[in-house]
Amino acid sequence: MFRRLTVFIVLFCTLGCSNRSIRETGLITRQAMVVSAHPLASAVGTKVLKRGGNAVDAAVAVQFALAVVYPDAGNIGGGGFLVFRQKDGHIDALDYREKAPAAAHRNMYLDERGEVIEELSLKGHLAAGVPGTVDGMVVAHKKYGSLPWAELVQPAVLLAANGFPLTKKEAKKLNEERKDFLKYNTRRPEFILKDHWKEGDTIRMKELAFALTQIRDRGRSGFYEGAVADSIVAEMKRGGGLISHQDLASYQSVWRKPITAHVGEYRIISMPPPSSGGIALVQLLTISSGYPLGEWGYKTVKTTHLMIEAERRVYADRAVHLGDPDFHKVPVEGLLDTSYIKGRMTNFTPGKATDSDDVSAGTPAPPESPNTTHYSIVDVQGNAVSVTTTLNSSFGSKVFVAGAGFLLNNEMDDFSVKPGAPNSYRLVGGEANAIAPGKRMLSSMTPTILEKNGKLYMVVGSMGGSTIITTVYQIILNVIAHGMPMQGAVNAGRFHHQWRPDWVLSEWGALGFGTGLRLWLMGHKIAPYVNGTIGRASGILVLPDGRLEGGADPRGDDASAGF
Ligand code: DON
Repeated sequence: MFRRLTVFIVLFCTLGCSNRSIRETGLITRQAMVVSAHPLASAVGTKVLKRGGNAVDAAVAVQFALAVVYPDAGNIGGGGFLVFRQKDGHIDALDYREKAPAAAHRNMYLDERGEVIEELSLKGHLAAGVPGTVDGMVVAHKKYGSLPWAELVQPAVLLAANGFPLTKKEAKKLNEERKDFLKYNTRRPEFILKDHWKEGDTIRMKELAFALTQIRDRGRSGFYEGAVADSIVAEMKRGGGLISHQDLASYQSVWRKPITAHVGEYRIISMPPPSSGGIALVQLLTISSGYPLGEWGYKTVKTTHLMIEAERRVYADRAVHLGDPDFHKVPVEGLLDTSYIKGRMTNFTPGKATDSDDVSAGTPAPPESPNTTHYSIVDVQGNAVSVTTTLNSSFGSKVFVAGAGFLLNNEMDDFSVKPGAPNSYRLVGGEANAIAPGKRMLSSMTPTILEKNGKLYMVVGSMGGSTIITTVYQIILNVIAHGMPMQGAVNAGRFHHQWRPDWVLSEWGALGFGTGLRLWLMGHKIAPYVNGTIGRASGILVLPDGRLEGGADPRGDDASAGF
């Protein structure tokens, strides 16, 4: 019986072809492009670029627009990471990740027997970390922006005040969330004023328009002080949350040195800790570069097996070594060392799946000194911005700040709430990612920029929790090893392995029947991905003649726009 069920599951994941073509070419433009999760946000960013704004100006405008039109993940109550490459090759990375409030403590989600209290780190007021988005945008704009701040926030103010039509997918999601919105809110949020939303309904958000107006007119203080801050703290008091005025006033984003590595003719530029994304991506691409994956072919048993085994080992390192560098010494150099990375594959067997129990984190050299939505933008001058921003789960903690109309994140669940206890992405962790006041929770977000032979080549990133890293990895390989266009690479089916649980999770048809079956016979445990689709990515590829190709994810309402 069990065997039959397994065969059924394997067939489900591997049979059937996705109807998205891996040879599809996306929108091509000559000068500039924005790819984001929503057509209205992409349009807002494009308008900024047309007016002469640079990629950072456009990023600020897109971030605020997404907070209105894509409230699942676009936000002002969450956080994110921004990776920047200037046209002259200068690079930078901004960490505006949320932080644990000062009153947070290691065991705050455990009962008196030390067991994890279900959903406490995921839903409701206690799940929220101190938001970083508004500070992040202000800080990015101060350093690199060129247009006046108010002009960049204004499109979002108008979208919230005047309303915008819901897409079919958004209407469906709002209806699905209704129960949670009612359950976790102390006041009725604007999203549930209607019983049943349908495609084309106009949604207006007066309270959110007010909060955005404060931010437009007062910058950082419009959010971390004054009426909006008062609303956040009042919301926390009503719902038993922890964020205080002091937490808000002291929040600061941090400029960090991007993770960089050369892999063949490419240079990877990505996010350092507290994201695990950049390090894990470099490890995956470095391992892959040791094998002729292009020759082996896309979706073949050999290629897929190698990729799964690389993912298994890289996620084992993630679980043990990675956390907020301001609190935990992350052995960055050791983890990025090419011989260390290649050494991780010594127990790789070409014809057989490794058991995750036989894989543990490696021992990289210690540091020498102490030390979820994505949008991609390229402007007319050739500056590039890669941003992944999130509330964590869809609609975050489900808690709206009454009076200010925005959703709070549930990023606290990205901490390891108890050593070895899996979080909502089934990721396990330990000391490096334990909760501490003011600490940032470990992330998988992987906003990335690639250079080829010293020139801007690709801007890419994705949503998807733990699957973000594997999504970005597979998209890059699809282009550099298998020669797909940007759109085809984003369309292509995805699979995911994260060491524990020891499963290869697959989108419908992503493995292909022959490959899936043979992988299963080699000992890989294969299962369909619970959410159906893995990741939702936005990419821009610079073509040999300098034109730009967009890759907008057909898994969502994503759109490329530009000129
Ligand atoms: O930072 C992280 O890794 C997660 N909070 C990202 C969440 C995400 O991608 C949501 N999408 N499923």
